[in-house]
Amino acid sequence: MTAMDRPALAGSALADSLGRPLRDLRISVTDRCNFRCTYCMPREVFGKDYLFLPHQDLLNFEEITRVARILVELGVRKIRLTGGEPLLRRDLDRLVGQLAALPGIDLSLTTNGSLLAKRAVALKAAGLQRVTVSLDALDEATFQQMNDADYPVARVLEGIEAAAAAGLGPVKVNAVIQRGVNEHAVLDLARHFRGTPHVLRFIEFMDVGATNGWKMDEVVPSRAVVDQIDAVFPLESLQPNYPGEVAQRWRYRDGQGEIGVISSVTQAFCGECSRLRLSTDGHLFTCLFAQQGQDLRTPLRAGADDDALRAALVGLWQARSDRYSALRHAATPRSPKIEMSYIGG
Ligand code: GTP
Ligand code: 5AD
Ligand code: SF4
Ligand code: SF4
Repeated sequence: MTAMDRPALAGSALADSLGRPLRDLRISVTDRCNFRCTYCMPREVFGKDYLFLPHQDLLNFEEITRVARILVELGVRKIRLTGGEPLLRRDLDRLVGQLAALPGIDLSLTTNGSLLAKRAVALKAAGLQRVTVSLDALDEATFQQMNDADYPVARVLEGIEAAAAAGLGPVKVNAVIQRGVNEHAVLDLARHFRGTPHVLRFIEFMDVGATNGWKMDEVVPSRAVVDQIDAVFPLESLQPNYPGEVAQRWRYRDGQGEIGVISSVTQAFCGECSRLRLSTDGHLFTCLFAQQGQDLRTPLRAGADDDALRAALVGLWQARSDRYSALRHAATPRSPKIEMSYIGG
């Protein structure tokens, strides 16, 4: 293919079959994690016998950067590094540096925060712009019950402050709320982060993957979370920062900051979903709930040139029709889904 007949380029944004542009790339850099969150990597499944990917199966940094560069040429503007726990990938700063050199992108990372205090300054120096930190409770018992690992809450809070001090803010703090497990954390967290520049976001527990035993009655609707906070600290809604923003924004009426809710179960946001996911071993997923991905590692390692890779990426996006969350209630079959730790949260 020549530059002349490249599809959907030069001015007109690449769109999928529902007219959604390709804007965001989420890259899972490792399928490993030092936490065992019960809603993501329950220890019964991801215990010592679990087979994580062998090193040679992982895309190397040059392969990742090459795919990202072509995707940026196709319209991607936001890149988020995820996992597993991305800070477990050796030498991650080098990848951050390579990606930060791509033109015009917003580069961020989602982490559990356990290693962040040590790494924040180097990540910023390498070119990382922002971080999102997961934190589901402030009391040790609940935090421990949910992440099933030996890290104190204080370590994550230190990570958040270190990231902000290093210039990686405003830090977003993600809390998954699960009925019967951490509903009480809603107000604890709101109280703690009120008056700081950090943006606390509550996420509805999702039926992602095949191992977390998801049940609809364990989902706390975002509406209930907003009502709970509003009753104590009055809130008013804010406009999205950009079209297709995943979180709905709210601000404290007394000016003490902003929170968000991510309602992927009760108010699906597939209509504006512009996200493509690249798994640790180089498969592309056009939906968080996809059952299979497109293998890009094989052509990458077989010497495919940029035009061939570009054609594969364009074809994949143009054929995309996923809207799992929007269809969830229409008797979606409980078929095997890919784990979030592999595909990239
Ligand atoms: P920012 O632009 O920095 O706000 O990023 P974001 O809003 O995309 O936030 P983040 O990447 O932290 O996503 C927050 C959470 O929303 C994820 O961890 C998922 O739980 C959920 N989420 C993100 N993208 C999707 C998606 O495409 N589909 C669904 N169903 N949930 C998503
Ligand atoms: N439902 C909702 N959010 C989830 N995350 C992981 N698993 C789930 C789930 N089943 C969130 C984490 C983290 C981000 C990467 O995804 O809490 O903030
Ligand atoms: Fe690890 Fe994040 Fe999954 Fe928890 S949610 S097990 S911290 S990847
Ligand atoms: Fe996008 Fe799939 Fe999530 Fe819908 S369910 S918002 S299509 S990733």
